[in-house]
Amino acid sequence: MKSFCKYLITGLIIAFTGGVVLAQNEAPVKVEKKAVVQKVTNLAPTPPMGWNSWNTFQTKISEQLVRDMADTYVASGMRDAGYKYLVLDDGWMAMERDKNGSLVADPQKFPNGMKAVADYVHSKGLKFGIYNCAGDKTCAGYPGTRGHEYEDARLYASWGVDFLKYDWCNTDSLNAREAYITMARALQATGRPILFSLCEWGNHQPWLWANGVGEMYRATGDITANFDKDKHMGTWTALSVMTIVDKMPAIRQYNGPNHWNDPDMLEVGNGMSLSEDRAHFSLWCMLAAPLMAGNDLRKMSAQSQSILTNKEAIAINQDALGVSAYRASAADSMEVWVKPLSNGNWAVCFLNRAGHAQNVNYVWTQHAQQDAQTRQAADFSKTTYKLHNVWEKKEAGTTKKAFRQSIAAHDAVLLTLTR
Ligand code: GLA
Repeated sequence: MKSFCKYLITGLIIAFTGGVVLAQNEAPVKVEKKAVVQKVTNLAPTPPMGWNSWNTFQTKISEQLVRDMADTYVASGMRDAGYKYLVLDDGWMAMERDKNGSLVADPQKFPNGMKAVADYVHSKGLKFGIYNCAGDKTCAGYPGTRGHEYEDARLYASWGVDFLKYDWCNTDSLNAREAYITMARALQATGRPILFSLCEWGNHQPWLWANGVGEMYRATGDITANFDKDKHMGTWTALSVMTIVDKMPAIRQYNGPNHWNDPDMLEVGNGMSLSEDRAHFSLWCMLAAPLMAGNDLRKMSAQSQSILTNKEAIAINQDALGVSAYRASAADSMEVWVKPLSNGNWAVCFLNRAGHAQNVNYVWTQHAQQDAQTRQAADFSKTTYKLHNVWEKKEAGTTKKAFRQSIAAHDAVLLTLTR
């Protein structure tokens, strides 16, 4: 039912709006520039970082789980690495609103109510996020917000909610842009700064209109923990890491401070190999994507932890310029991604998409860079940059010498280039 509503209904919307809504790969016609909601906050100058319950727990969430996760969040070094939000996704509510029309936390899962949960999360120095949906019901069938926008927003504010993920299931013929603007205004009216995370899967090209509505917007359907194989779920398809990555270059220009393209939450620690997790995280850092971990922090391996808390990788993601990488080249399953950083520096990611190891032999002086978006340029035959290998955590020479390394199957090398 969930997937039926999610993909079929949005498909119908596209079909019946007579081409107003363009397919994802069509050339954009018009970007809505005006800030449609008077934002008083600067909640996401760099990509938001946090943890979300969905990828591992789906609706099997509880107060105890939040407490455990908040404790581990701090103990594991995630908070110190920059992760800030702890977000409860779908499944936190009772199946019905109360007699006044208010949402109620599921009394079995959250016996002390949601304010107590928020208070606990805040006591750990973290921010608390919650989920709902623009439709009549959430994707998992819980009460949706349609028609209750202002009262739900007030309720969240009274609990101390700092982040709202707002989904798109069961929305019938609702207009996406208008629905998200209504909820953004409802959040705004509470007077509490609440980061607004749009989740309509990129169906209505939010990158063209959501700057000024929310701080981040899902650009794709749901991710699955697979490097390059999509997973067919019957009526809908969960997307592999590579399928999502391939959708991002076309919308690169719409990414920036307080309006981030969201390629979905991280699957690091959820079943891919170490190489694949490393490549996945490297790319999310390069894309300046929100970093929302989705693994069970209580059972996190040392390897997952070292990926998720790698400070240099995170610094690339959080760079103040806020620019997404471009794909400079792709040949024989070897790709080179390049991200302009502040102070004229760069990050470069060599991605081996092949199922076998490959050697990279990159002669910098033959690959001058020129980014059309930022106009940042580097001619390596004239200017020398110092290389730092982010995963090996060591210096790697300069751009005067070719960069040579073997890269394992489905793995990535991440370098910073400093003048
Ligand atoms: C949709 C969203 C997911 C998750 C689920 C919850 O599929 O895209 O990220 O929030 O709903 O039901």
